[in-house]
Amino acid sequence: MNTTPIRAAAIVSDADGTPRSADYGDVYHSRAGALAQARHVFLDGDALAGRWRGRERFVVLETGFGLGNNFLATWAAWRADAQRSRQLHVVAIEGSPPSRVDLAGAARDPLLAPLAVELAEHWPPLTCNLHRIAFESGRVELLLALGDVAAWLPQLVGRVDAFFLDGFAPARNPAMWDARLFKAMARLAVPGATVATWTAARAVRDGLRSAGFAVENAPGTGGKRDITRGRFAPHFTPRAAARQARALSEARRAPASTTAGTRDSPGGEALPVVIVGAGLAGCALAQALAERGRSSLLLERGTAIALEGSGNAAGIFHGVVHRGDGRHARFHRAAAFAARAAVRDAIDRSQTRGSVAGLLRIASDGASRDELQATVDALGLPADYVRAVDANGASRLAGVPIAGAAWHFPHGGWVDPRGLAAAWLGSAGRRCQLRSCCSVASLARVDDRWTLRDANDETIATAETVVLCNAGGALDLLGRPPWPIEPQRGQVSSIEAARLPSGTVPRLPVAGAGYVLPEIDGAVWFGASAQWNDFDLSLRAGDHRANLGRFTRLVGTAAAPELAGMSGRTSLRWVSQDRLPVIGAVPAALALGAGSSVATKAPGRLDQPRVVPRAPGLYVFTALGSRGIASASLGAQILAAAIADAPAPVEADLLDAIDPARFLVRQFRRDEASRQAASPTFVQPPVGPMAGSAGA
Ligand SMILES: Cc1cc2nc3c(=O)[nH]c(=O)nc-3n(C[C@H](O)[C@H](O)[C@H](O)COP(=O)(O)OP(=O)(O)OC[C@H]3O[C@@H](n4cnc5c(N)ncnc54)[C@H](O)[C@@H]3O)c2cc1C
Ligand SMILES: C[S@@+](CC[C@H](N)C(=O)[O-])C[C@H]1O[C@@H](n2cnc3c(N)ncnc32)[C@H](O)[C@@H]1O
Repeated sequence: MNTTPIRAAAIVSDADGTPRSADYGDVYHSRAGALAQARHVFLDGDALAGRWRGRERFVVLETGFGLGNNFLATWAAWRADAQRSRQLHVVAIEGSPPSRVDLAGAARDPLLAPLAVELAEHWPPLTCNLHRIAFESGRVELLLALGDVAAWLPQLVGRVDAFFLDGFAPARNPAMWDARLFKAMARLAVPGATVATWTAARAVRDGLRSAGFAVENAPGTGGKRDITRGRFAPHFTPRAAARQARALSEARRAPASTTAGTRDSPGGEALPVVIVGAGLAGCALAQALAERGRSSLLLERGTAIALEGSGNAAGIFHGVVHRGDGRHARFHRAAAFAARAAVRDAIDRSQTRGSVAGLLRIASDGASRDELQATVDALGLPADYVRAVDANGASRLAGVPIAGAAWHFPHGGWVDPRGLAAAWLGSAGRRCQLRSCCSVASLARVDDRWTLRDANDETIATAETVVLCNAGGALDLLGRPPWPIEPQRGQVSSIEAARLPSGTVPRLPVAGAGYVLPEIDGAVWFGASAQWNDFDLSLRAGDHRANLGRFTRLVGTAAAPELAGMSGRTSLRWVSQDRLPVIGAVPAALALGAGSSVATKAPGRLDQPRVVPRAPGLYVFTALGSRGIASASLGAQILAAAIADAPAPVEADLLDAIDPARFLVRQFRRDEASRQAASPTFVQPPVGPMAGSAGA
């Protein structure tokens, strides 16, 4: 999906205070009031109250989030209903979102006002992303897709119970209401899904009907005679759609199809998900599952959590800016947003050491401030996500001399990863059972379940859903699949702040070719070295020296501190060739190809990740590289959503980008290309009466 700059809405007020879009020339809600309209047209139109009763989750998709009144009214109604669903997910698309100031200043019904304050507090930077905002300890989730409806709909992964179509009148905004909207709705709708809209336009009703919705008139409100309601009841499912839905449910929703089967008894709790490895990935996943009402058993070979890759005293997190804004930059932007929310939460709730007050990244190619800002402007990225600063500006922010221009990520920061992992487990509470000193030696499929065994071949656990979060160890448990993932040794160094020349300790983390952190408990951490396939984790003086070089270059001091008195820590990063993590359901064919006991079925289609068949209930979450804090924060949300059958918190092409099946697909495409190169002869299509139309 291409990134488009997001421009804040130009909102004006009519004489009676009704908000109006200057761009579309239409009002955000009728004069009857936003709450009355939301209730009558959307909440009643979709019969939410009756339908979410007793459900595990309920998913609403809205086109045109606007000022969020429909969302707030839905949230308020959910809150007030003792029989509400456990989870409420609202996926809302908005092309011209209000600025934070306009959102906070919008007039609200007193019932919605307190919720509106919370919404404004969490309002994201306006970037072309699927922004996840969690309320009510995660029981209410808003996935705010900023960008055009036509671009977002094909990228959404999830199953929708109710649609709110609220994108200004079709006469004023025909582009939103075209056939692609209705087709996409049919792809996303569960059987019996409902739709409600303010408009009674004939073209909209026809469009809904042609997509399989049974449509009816309903009395309007606020001076409107008729509105439209509908129910998804297709006469037939097109073969292509059915095929794609089947593939998607295997690829993305293997757990969805097993969700019902994981219940011990009707209405009972699902069986715990077994997570192997309690580093950042495993602990983040335990929390994300708990948020969705799922319990987990977390198996860790160490004596405690986060003692390996995730055991550093502190680490940084921030986004990525790249001219092409490809999948790498987009994934890490989304991951940086997820990290900020997670770190902020951990600091607020668990007093975890860290900061979300910003980070500087010095341009490694010596680019000027104007060159950096030109990239930011071309991508339309807002200043509260990233802006370019010159050396003076960077020095002022950091409080130390910085030699060159830098990116300033106001929402980046640093955190103690062990503290973050502990905060995640604390927040999972009783929904996660940690078993330490428990090393998983093998994994096998026995009687439709996964059996995890120790080195003595004793069974540790059996489960329907297993997630391998054990870094490089995941590859061993999968029989060493031919994935391009390599270990990289890294050493960070630290020194007492008091031993450093004055004016060399930055206020913000400074990154570039290495990083320097602000003072933490009297020490300053900086680094880090990188050696491929080097498993020797003893500290090296040569690495300390190299880290000192990074320190002096980053904070612009010539006076390097002395080597004596330095300490440090080494561990391994697991890094994939494309520098993206590996997160998703394990392909059945790969497991089969590796000759391991996880094999379940024949390879099937391999031409794109989303159609590759999967081993049921088996997931991997590894190769977090040097961005473990951010990738763990987002990856856990992605996997928990897949396991709980909730809407995916990132777009489909980013799911493909991190999918473990991508390596298989690339190999398949390479093989196909060489097969074609080896036999370049043009194959003549058959001729004769069977070949084409009689008249041809
Ligand atoms: C020097 C250095 C500096 C870094 N700096 C940063 C930074 O500033 N910011 C950042 O975001 N990232 C940074 N990283 C990267 C980050 O630390 C990693 O990406 C992250 O910790 C990986 O987390 P993980 O949960 O995948 O792996 P780990 O933390 O290694 O967790 C895997 C867990 O699985 C357990 N395990 C393994 N096998 C088994 C088994 N068979 N049975 C049971 N348990 C098992 C292990 O004991 C371990 O606890 C840095 C890495 C290094 C090396
Ligand atoms: C009537 S307002 C929505 C009011 C909103 N539902 C509320 O509760 O406050 C219509 C919204 O649809 C958005 N919109 C219109 N066309 C769009 C498109 N093609 N893509 C994304 N958003 C669109 C507008 O920017 C506007 O915010």
